[in-house]
Amino acid sequence: MSCTPVAGPPKPDGTRSSFATLRRLRPVGLLLPAWLVAAQASELVRAHRGMVASESALATQVGVQVLQEGGTAVDAAVATAFALAVTCPAAGNLGGGGFLLHRAASGKAVAYDFREVAPAAADAWMFVTNGAYDVTRHHHSHRAVGVPGTVAGLHLAWRDHGRLPWRRLVEPAIKLAATGFPVSEELARSLTDALPKLRRSTAAYQQFTRSGIPYAPGEILQQPDLAATLERIARRGPAGFYRGEVAQRLAREMTAGDGLITQADLREYRALRREPVRGTYREFEVLSMPPPSSGGTVLVLMLNLLEELDLARNGRDSAATIHLVAEAMRLGFAERARWLGDPDFNPDLPLERLLSKEHAARLRATIQPDRASPSSLAAVAGEAESRQTTHLSVVDAARNAVALTYTLEESYGSGLMAPGTGFLLNNEMGDFNPAPGLTTTNGLIGTAPNLAAPRKRMLSSMTPTILVKDHQPVLVLGSPGGRTIINTVLLTILNVVDFGLDLETALATPRFHHQWFPDRILCERGAFSTETIAALRALGHRLEEYPYPQGAVGAIRVDPGTGRLEGLFDPRAPDGAAAGW
Ligand code: GLY
Repeated sequence: MSCTPVAGPPKPDGTRSSFATLRRLRPVGLLLPAWLVAAQASELVRAHRGMVASESALATQVGVQVLQEGGTAVDAAVATAFALAVTCPAAGNLGGGGFLLHRAASGKAVAYDFREVAPAAADAWMFVTNGAYDVTRHHHSHRAVGVPGTVAGLHLAWRDHGRLPWRRLVEPAIKLAATGFPVSEELARSLTDALPKLRRSTAAYQQFTRSGIPYAPGEILQQPDLAATLERIARRGPAGFYRGEVAQRLAREMTAGDGLITQADLREYRALRREPVRGTYREFEVLSMPPPSSGGTVLVLMLNLLEELDLARNGRDSAATIHLVAEAMRLGFAERARWLGDPDFNPDLPLERLLSKEHAARLRATIQPDRASPSSLAAVAGEAESRQTTHLSVVDAARNAVALTYTLEESYGSGLMAPGTGFLLNNEMGDFNPAPGLTTTNGLIGTAPNLAAPRKRMLSSMTPTILVKDHQPVLVLGSPGGRTIINTVLLTILNVVDFGLDLETALATPRFHHQWFPDRILCERGAFSTETIAALRALGHRLEEYPYPQGAVGAIRVDPGTGRLEGLFDPRAPDGAAAGW
């Protein structure tokens, strides 16, 4: 566990909130203030003024302090994201990209797109060597690195909605990187697992080992090069990253490794504002991420498919319910493969149709209650994407809400680090389709909308989402998990809306995933009873158990009656925590 909770004083309503001492994880210079209501992963936190939930208790603490100083939800999200880049190096990042969904208390919503882009020299055949698909080049080479978007995206959101000075938001991350923080058990395990990947880059290997020896829990991890890069960003904003020394070092690393990113690619990177995807599900409005993420579109499509079905009747665990949900997943992912990619390169992307109730009704009519429909290549698929992405949710005192998901693609991204920069580079180019026409039942997709092209954004599954009721945000959530993200968010919403589960149970219940191809339901260990498995098999479903958990949801729930906030980070992520004030 990431921190040591100490029971807080009983609250008037008898809730189980606790004051976490964060004793083992508290870095030098970060004192825990008395007003902080915090917990470790899987502990529900209740507060009134504001809440942050992230995959790192230290980063959550940074975010709540920003809220307490009068920062907005965006201020807190930016500070938390920078802190995660230090404390959660597998997924928190400067060298990756992501999406931030903001809903102001006024109801106005905007989606910030800071997805990586392909360098100017990219093309659709760049992952084919001697006529064959080159999986190493696609996922594990300098060519797998996309132009990072995180710094530009955080800055754009802050320019629009920030209140505290930029430097104030970067400073806690600088401190965490410079003075260091104690390595948790989870981080020690993760860094040890990552050693083979990190060995590819001398700079990364030096930063994340003690001269080749893995960090043990409790040892202090200092990252001076990362602190220096963060200092440049604090001083110069995005120019401290996209221009000058950091950009020069990054471009040099690319040249040395036969990568494609140039200083011009970095200089010309732009984060974008986009119109969020909007849908309705039962009495809720759903706001989520538009393309180039497939997340919001596929989520709304699946919710539309399920809305006319009485899921609650048979119960959450029944084969009948799981069958219907899996069929909706199958259809949603087939549509994803067929249509979705960077909207700026796909002018015919039929977004309105994909989000319409009519389209969902047509698809729903193909679902058979007593038989699994086989996935068909006539529609088109994907190997499981990496689970290493991270999500944070924030709600502030005014009830502005932020759902932010960002990623390096795989755990520790490409494992590459330009000497002297202190941050890992993504391998997000792996989210482009491998090659034109290369679609297989094993899950490769070769459809045109998501083929690599100069300055194009690769398709994502990240699904930062806000549910609204009566003009108030009621649930803010998201998750890591590659393609499983969309289904993790879907299942969490169904748990809350259809099955009436409290937040703790909604996040703890086992998850499952269907993504059209490979044609099978993946499920967490122990997700289904023996009878349910037999019944699903009788319907024609193939089932496989995951060797690992599905997703790590960070969620904040707002009680529409009292306005009280409940925050929780997924029990699957031991270092995560929600905290409020
Ligand atoms: N790299 C994971 C995603 O963008 O969905």
